[in-house]
Amino acid sequence: MNPKKLAAEKAVEFVQSGMILGLGTGTTAYWAIERIGEMIRNSDLKIRAIATSKRSADQAAALGIPLVSFGEIDQIDLTIDGADEADGKLNLIKGGGGALLREKIVATNSRQMVVVVDGHKLVNCLGKFPLPVEVIPFGWEKVFENLGAMGCEPLLRKNSDSEREVFLTDNGNYIIDCSFGEIADPATLEDKINAITGVADNGLFVGIASKLVVGYESGEVKVLERILK
Ligand code: 5RP
Repeated sequence: MNPKKLAAEKAVEFVQSGMILGLGTGTTAYWAIERIGEMIRNSDLKIRAIATSKRSADQAAALGIPLVSFGEIDQIDLTIDGADEADGKLNLIKGGGGALLREKIVATNSRQMVVVVDGHKLVNCLGKFPLPVEVIPFGWEKVFENLGAMGCEPLLRKNSDSEREVFLTDNGNYIIDCSFGEIADPATLEDKINAITGVADNGLFVGIASKLVVGYESGEVKVLERILK
């Protein structure tokens, strides 16, 4: 069984008619968008949505999901998005697909963020996956140096099909992937990185996700809730 599809379809069970949805990006969020499109076609579900990337917006538009902009709504009710790593406190590393900035804007303006992952993404400690940092192209070399001085191994992301072309986000920015190893204090690291001038944001999502839906190849699906202090 496809664990990503299982997790995504379970998360879509939290969708209710009338909601404004945030649509995530990536191969797991893809299945949630497909399922929402199917429900609009086959039931009386009425929702409107904001997409976190051009890719997801194109997919949603092709499925007939009505898209809105922030200027047309007050708040997003529910966002469903993937992650590259998630820990037991529901802190995340995101941005493997390069959409972290829009994803964080959408998630932090949502009443609820439901994260969908396959079992391999669940970790005890974040950091095995290199942390994506979105940076403004002007002066990126200095941000790169600053990130290196914070104790990581930084790498400027290139397009997968051309080692010479720098990867550009939907916002026209660069991504620096930072291998820190185990991240003991994600909240402090998130703030420290964002304090560097030239950083747009980084892929640490701390205290944002409300539910984590984990799919397994066996067909099992677990729903973890964030414990509020
Ligand atoms: C994109 C993301 C994705 O949610 C993350 O990379 C997970 O992707 P996938 O579901 O394809 O494994 O953060 O910026």
